[in-house]
Amino acid sequence: MRIKKAILTGGGRATRLYPITTTINKHLLPLANKPMIFHAIEKVVEAGVEEIFINVNPGDTELQKFIGDGGHWGIKIKFFEQTGGPQGIAHVVKEAEKFIDNDPFIFYLSDNIIFGSIKEMVDEFNSGNQDCMLALSKVPDPNRFGVPVFCEGGNLIDVLEKPENPPSDFAVTGIYLYGPKVFFKAFDNIEKSSRGEYEISSIHSHFLKNNYKVGHKEITGWWKDTGLADDLLLANKMLLERMEGSEFPNHGSIYESADISGNVRIGIGSVIGKSVKITGPAIIGENCVLENCEVGPFITIGSGTEVKDAKLRDNIILENCDINCDIQITDSLIGRGVKIVKKKTKEAEGHKMIVGDKTILEL
Ligand code: G1P
Repeated sequence: MRIKKAILTGGGRATRLYPITTTINKHLLPLANKPMIFHAIEKVVEAGVEEIFINVNPGDTELQKFIGDGGHWGIKIKFFEQTGGPQGIAHVVKEAEKFIDNDPFIFYLSDNIIFGSIKEMVDEFNSGNQDCMLALSKVPDPNRFGVPVFCEGGNLIDVLEKPENPPSDFAVTGIYLYGPKVFFKAFDNIEKSSRGEYEISSIHSHFLKNNYKVGHKEITGWWKDTGLADDLLLANKMLLERMEGSEFPNHGSIYESADISGNVRIGIGSVIGKSVKITGPAIIGENCVLENCEVGPFITIGSGTEVKDAKLRDNIILENCDINCDIQITDSLIGRGVKIVKKKTKEAEGHKMIVGDKTILEL
């Protein structure tokens, strides 16, 4: 048995990241130098996967445009819609049954960011005879996750979804390995939870109560479920910190007096003008204009964004923004085409804002 297929999540509502995710698929938000889902694709490819199936919300075409057919990674990628829209992550897998057939597979939640490789775990699964293998990680807040229950002898006996009183300080991460057929048999035996979703933890609980062989392995490196803005910013920071110097090429034009230190990647067509200080690690996209500003460290700026007179650090800023005023912005996630500019008239005091639903401003 060797795993060659993977199912990745690419749909869902991502309400915890509103309003950004009302206009962009969460899985396309940039983390360090690439969209979030690219990190997940790379992890499964490194572990030997040759075919990936990604679910999208009905009608969504954005992911397909960015990801393509997998040629970029030397594998095949197909997309499938979840009938009836999001109904829980176990339902995502059920919808991919026709692609999986009788093969073993990885199910990987694309918003899970890890350092290190899953290859060792996949190799161990490939050479054994388990029905399922769960990747665990020690966390300070297990009640946000699926939590494993161990008996006194240390054996895994159950998995509870977001329990109020967690029975252990581990989370079941969003990286799951399954043997042939077992998932789909289990799915027929589970029901929607009280939040109206087919929970992946219900599958694992069913396995454990029906004597399936369920292994587990602790992820010892860093793991993060990037469901919240602060988690995204932290993941961005940690990924930027770990990137090699060679991953920060400079293709822009830089004014002689600009002060650039540390690892800084500058995209084609970007102009780094007068009185700019950039402190790496930092990623500046293509066709950006920076003038009289301080940028970084730990910042990812999308293409076409202009920054003048501002101080920015620890941010993810998407494409085509105009930040042109004397402002200091930290620990922030800023969507596409946002304008933070000087007031045109000075008659009235205070800030003038046209702000979308559920925007958060801490001033
Ligand atoms: C989901 C799973 C949960 C798991 C988590 C890992 O939670 O339901 O069991 O621990 O992913 O990222 P969700 O992110 O849907 O709240």
